[in-house]
Amino acid sequence: MPAVQPKIQPDSVSDRSEKYQIRVHNLVKSFNGKTVLDKLCLDIERGKINIIIGGSGHGKSVTMKHLMGLLKPDSGSIYIDGVDIVSLSEYELNKLRHNFGMVFQYAALFDSMTVFDNIAFPLREHTKMNKNEIRDEVKKSLESVSLPGIGHQFPSELSGGMKKRVGLARAVVIKPEVIFYDEPTTGLDPIATKNVDELIASINSRYGVTSVVISHDMASTFRIAHRISMLYGGKIIASGDPDSFKKTKVPEALEFLKVSGVL
Ligand SMILES: Nc1ncnc2c1ncn2[C@@H]1O[C@H](COP(=O)(O)OP(=O)(O)OP(=O)(O)O)[C@@H](O)[C@H]1O
Ligand SMILES: [Mg+2]
Repeated sequence: MPAVQPKIQPDSVSDRSEKYQIRVHNLVKSFNGKTVLDKLCLDIERGKINIIIGGSGHGKSVTMKHLMGLLKPDSGSIYIDGVDIVSLSEYELNKLRHNFGMVFQYAALFDSMTVFDNIAFPLREHTKMNKNEIRDEVKKSLESVSLPGIGHQFPSELSGGMKKRVGLARAVVIKPEVIFYDEPTTGLDPIATKNVDELIASINSRYGVTSVVISHDMASTFRIAHRISMLYGGKIIASGDPDSFKKTKVPEALEFLKVSGVL
């Protein structure tokens, strides 16, 4: 009998338990010769709120764009439910993105469309719903962000906080499996920030959706995160649940916690 060959797999994918929906291994990305992601490894827990923290320019948005398949790495792998999306074609990625909701760093609503049409957009793109079904879903999603009846307004008529919530309504309307939020509370006052935090938490528990959030706001992070990962110099240098994260011994993470008043 031939000897059984051991399966050789990279470290971060050797235990492909159901616990992690997304597993990133040794991701490398450079722009014009400057390395931004430097063998980054990151795990995202299924059904949980996963928050990525880190200083400005350390590669948080670039990392998230890779998870959404909007950027291709120079090397490394990104497994979503066990499928390496790095080698997928644009057509296959588009199919996959039907399961994603995205809330961008800047509200990124279509200014020329009403709120209703902004939220209806992914339904028209990705589903075969008829007009009545679309109307009902848009209504429900506006209610879920506590903005009923503003469908006829244009983004320019809304406050920053309202725009963020419309962005959330648009992300959840297709009932995605994963929602990506790039700094959903930037530029909001503390009360509006708390409201958006509560929405993220309630969307997470109501739909059991995997949430990946980039945040600058440490109070928010420790309020809602199930898992925190810190990006520094193109690598994840510390990660874990909030309690274990606070006990980190990694000097740069410790410093970040101290400077942001968490410790
Ligand atoms: N398309 C691009 N072309 C060239 N350089 C880029 C590109 N996108 C990002 N970068 C560079 O990569 C680095 C990381 O950028 P990124 O946007 O990920 O930072 P970030 O951690 O999200 O910062 P912030 O907290 O300010 O949003 C920066 O130096 C940025 O200039
Ligand atoms: Mg960013």
